[in-house]
Amino acid sequence: MRVPIIAGNWKLYKTTAEALDLVNGLIPLVKNTAGVEIVVAPVFTVLGDVGRAISGTNIRLAGQDCFWEEEGAFTGEVSPRMLLDAGCNHVIIGHSERRQYFGETDETVNRKIKAALKDGLTVLFCIGETLAEREAERTFDVLKRQVANGLTGIATGQLNNIVIAYEPVWAIGTGKTASDTQAQEAHAFIRNQVAGFYDSETAAAIRILYGGSVKPDNIKGLMAQPDIDGALVGGASLKADSFAAIVNYGA
Ligand code: PGA
Repeated sequence: MRVPIIAGNWKLYKTTAEALDLVNGLIPLVKNTAGVEIVVAPVFTVLGDVGRAISGTNIRLAGQDCFWEEEGAFTGEVSPRMLLDAGCNHVIIGHSERRQYFGETDETVNRKIKAALKDGLTVLFCIGETLAEREAERTFDVLKRQVANGLTGIATGQLNNIVIAYEPVWAIGTGKTASDTQAQEAHAFIRNQVAGFYDSETAAAIRILYGGSVKPDNIKGLMAQPDIDGALVGGASLKADSFAAIVNYGA
């Protein structure tokens, strides 16, 4: 049984006061939610405060990125160990905005995933094609490459701590969601790739989230798809009521 995950990616939003407002608004709205893992990913500077606010609740904390070294002369970076120290259990790696604006490659994504797993974080590993790639009918080639390169050198047993997030770049922040069918098709393809690289049992167990303009009004249709195991939510995670409505999609 794959337990669904709904994760909120707060991106570069929310000062301390705003983040606390958001999370304190969210806690009562999801406190009775069962059978869904709830994760929020605030900016690094507010992880400690948000972590303290959600302590003892059913909400878990994620970093939005991490570096692959534990410590050293790497100005501006944050390591998996430091995320753990700040109260994180999860980390987002390879988000398309990191790939697009900050030079993240399949290779750096792979190094980061390995480092995060080594320190015991659960990784939300993001992949997805751009609009140009989809229009050129290269979606499946891109997904195959991203899965293969991102998971290079990662053993079967470690896949328990990896969650894949399929986020078509053309659907992120654009209001254009992939249709349920398009999303399901990509998810089934990704699961199939995992079966090929590992085995069918591992593929059946791995959770694959959809991301890209997920809203309260499209979550149900997405979650009804057999290979969609949750959502990575950007814009709609910035308000307690809309994020709670997504978390409580089954209610
Ligand atoms: P969006 O972002 O929900 O605002 O499209 C999703 C994401 O980037 O994870």
